[in-house]
Amino acid sequence: MQSIVVEGKNRLSGEIKVQGAKNSALPILAATVLCDGKTVLTNCPALTDVFSAERILTHLGCRCGFSDNTATVENDGIKNPHIPDTLMSEMRSSIIFLGAILGKTGECSLSFPGGCELGARPIDIHLAALRRMGVSISEEFGMLRCQVSKELHGAKLTLPFPSVGATENIILAATLAKGETVIRNAAREPEIRDVAEFLNKCGADISGAGESTVVIHGVKKLHACEHRIMPDRIVAATYLSAAAITGGEVTLTDIRAEDIESVMPPFEEMGCYTYISPDSVYIKAPKKIKRVKKIITLPHPGFPTDAQAILMAVLCRAEGTSVISENIFESRYKHVPQLVRMGADIKVEGKAAIVGGVSKLFGTTVSATDLRGGAALVIAGLAAEGTTTVTDIAHIDRGYDEIERALSSLGGKVSRI
Ligand code: EPZ
Repeated sequence: MQSIVVEGKNRLSGEIKVQGAKNSALPILAATVLCDGKTVLTNCPALTDVFSAERILTHLGCRCGFSDNTATVENDGIKNPHIPDTLMSEMRSSIIFLGAILGKTGECSLSFPGGCELGARPIDIHLAALRRMGVSISEEFGMLRCQVSKELHGAKLTLPFPSVGATENIILAATLAKGETVIRNAAREPEIRDVAEFLNKCGADISGAGESTVVIHGVKKLHACEHRIMPDRIVAATYLSAAAITGGEVTLTDIRAEDIESVMPPFEEMGCYTYISPDSVYIKAPKKIKRVKKIITLPHPGFPTDAQAILMAVLCRAEGTSVISENIFESRYKHVPQLVRMGADIKVEGKAAIVGGVSKLFGTTVSATDLRGGAALVIAGLAAEGTTTVTDIAHIDRGYDEIERALSSLGGKVSRI
């Protein structure tokens, strides 16, 4: 079992390129199921979730490759529209394959994606929409059996919640369906725009992706294409946090200004100087950061839930008390007890976390509870006295392409053992 070891109290400085976005690469890899031929995805991060997605594609009958941050998927027909439990349980977001497999083959069976560290992770919104598009779905013994009854057809859908995964699943199912699909109250995360850009390059007819109403006109077929995965705005927020908690000065390159805007206000309120240009962000942090009155996680363009744990780690060292309100997932505070073990002063009351700034954090051994919670512990370790050892780092490797190398390149003393 590997661990990440952090020697605290080193100021970060320098320049770093942001990796490709996990939450764009995964739905786009699922979308290759719809595309005949060889898809080439550049700027694709080397993540365990990406490799899990490629294992699913291989199982479905595609030939996959990965080298030097380029993923390839050769699809000359889906041989087997069934995802076994072993592959489903590797990555809960594998549900994103459902819409694509149905769109391509008209049938799909997979095991019900279990919950995860963040909570139950229901898929009711996904299934209700697919039923409206002509899919009959039975759930038995933990298996989902989906079958297009007559034909997969468009529908006018209003989502009860702007679910990212449900929006993506519907778009994937609608690209080859008959007629027009309209999604109202769609999720507006930038990754959805990237998925639509990829699909339109393959011959799809999607408009409005990234806005709250998306319209898809079904086409007969999709061909493969080459696409560059967009930069990862949550990894960018992670590096900005590393600079903020160490009084550092860092420039991030290959990050789109419009994608990072939703996480910038707390850094400015802390007293960091930031400068955003079209494809880079500069941050210079003060020696002592100030508290942030309130961080409220919301669907995009609100503050992203994925950056909540990471900003919480920074605020443990702020002067004064900050309040965080987590409104997207029902249990996304599993990192709090681990931060408290490092000397943080955090109280959770329902959706709210009250973070009292402390003058010192202390290095100790802590365990990653989930992807972003694990990253938060590494960030806290950068400012802690002594050595912090983070265990269970498989969670972190799901979303960060060698986090220790990235932080070390900025002067952090971070290693993997
Ligand atoms: C995506 O998850 C991301 N994952 C998550 O990132 C991210 O936290 C989340 O969107 C919100 O931005 C990927 O893109 C692979 P949702 P997803 O459907 O699609 C409820 C990370 O750290 N809901 O928008 O699962 C759900 O329970 C990961 O990279 C239903 O009730 O998020 C949750 O409370 C973690 N019924 C809320 O909506 C449904 O059918 C948001 O879920 C679907 C969702």
